[in-house]
Amino acid sequence: MARNLTLLGIESSCDDTAAAVVRHGPGGPVILSSEAVGQTSLHADFGGVVPEIAARAHAERLDVVVEAALVTAGVTLDDLDGIAVTAGPGLIGGVLSGVMLARGLAAARGLPLFGVNHLAGHALTPRLTDGISFPYLMLLVSGGHCQFLLVEGADRFRRLGGTIDDAPGEAFDKTAKLLGLAQPGGPAVEVEAEMGDPKRFAFPRPLLDREGCDMSFSGLKTALLRARDTLVAEKGGITLQDRRDLCASFQAAVSEVLAIKTERALALAGEVTALAVAGGVAANRTVRAMLETVCNRAAVPFVAPPLRLCTDNAAMIAWAGIERLHAGIAPSADFVARPRWPLDDTAPALLGSGKKGAKA
Ligand code: KG4
Ligand code: ZN
Repeated sequence: MARNLTLLGIESSCDDTAAAVVRHGPGGPVILSSEAVGQTSLHADFGGVVPEIAARAHAERLDVVVEAALVTAGVTLDDLDGIAVTAGPGLIGGVLSGVMLARGLAAARGLPLFGVNHLAGHALTPRLTDGISFPYLMLLVSGGHCQFLLVEGADRFRRLGGTIDDAPGEAFDKTAKLLGLAQPGGPAVEVEAEMGDPKRFAFPRPLLDREGCDMSFSGLKTALLRARDTLVAEKGGITLQDRRDLCASFQAAVSEVLAIKTERALALAGEVTALAVAGGVAANRTVRAMLETVCNRAAVPFVAPPLRLCTDNAAMIAWAGIERLHAGIAPSADFVARPRWPLDDTAPALLGSGKKGAKA
């Protein structure tokens, strides 16, 4: 990795329009810029991301965000060694907006172009932030993804398991909705949970009786809904303390399932350099503490990149492009945008489709 490489990354697969410039030289990688414009307010009235609104917003903002990323980085298109763009999985209108812009820029400037899998971006981030070596185990836990990946190389991922229905972030968001808390639900539920009793409600720990590390989170929200409705039927409503206890009990169930399944995933993975996490749910302190305990027990380092790089961003896409260049993978403008794109083609397809788009 001796030569300086500077890549522009573009990400528009969900509800963040993002662009970043990452440079890699002898001293390691440096994120020269990482710009993002979110769309929370545009979708706020609809209870989820509306694909058509997302696609239009991406198309309107991408050029501005790319320009801001170049300006902040202090580079021009002439300084770039290539462009990497998210080519899937995700909401196809948004993905296409990014891919078309990247294709245009690459063609106009004769730059190498990489169509990057969004999940590969997440999965390779711990190498950008912490420089860890292959192979490592990655747990992706966000509003749209939930899977264990054994990361063996820049383009070698083995999925060991994942959710068969909702992602945990979705479950947090639905819980918040059922209890009248703000969106995104994860942080709101966490705050309530801090003041609640995690043992008051015995919520299910689904699929623990099934071997391996697949997970299920959709039944949890049904259990929570029942518990809430029982309280309402008994007392005519729920108190603030009831709500805190519901949140704490829900959070305990999610954390415990993630921890137990992580233990199993580590056993399946064999020798690894670390357990790394990515995704918004990895910000949850209870989840994090339980995963750290699992890692300590297994004597495996726990790596959690800073939250802004754990959630959707374009630096991870630029970095995935750099990783591909270093691995000798040839760039190609000849890729297709894909709404679904499993990282591991050999693993059985995951069921369900998250509110933020299809799961890979
Ligand atoms: O990775 P992310 O920003 O976006 C994608 O889903 O791609 O993750 C967002 C998800 C939301 O569902 C949000 O409720 C959840 O992560 N989240 C949390 C916390 N912060 C964000 N869940 C639990 N605890 C948190 N502190
Ligand atoms: Zn993501």
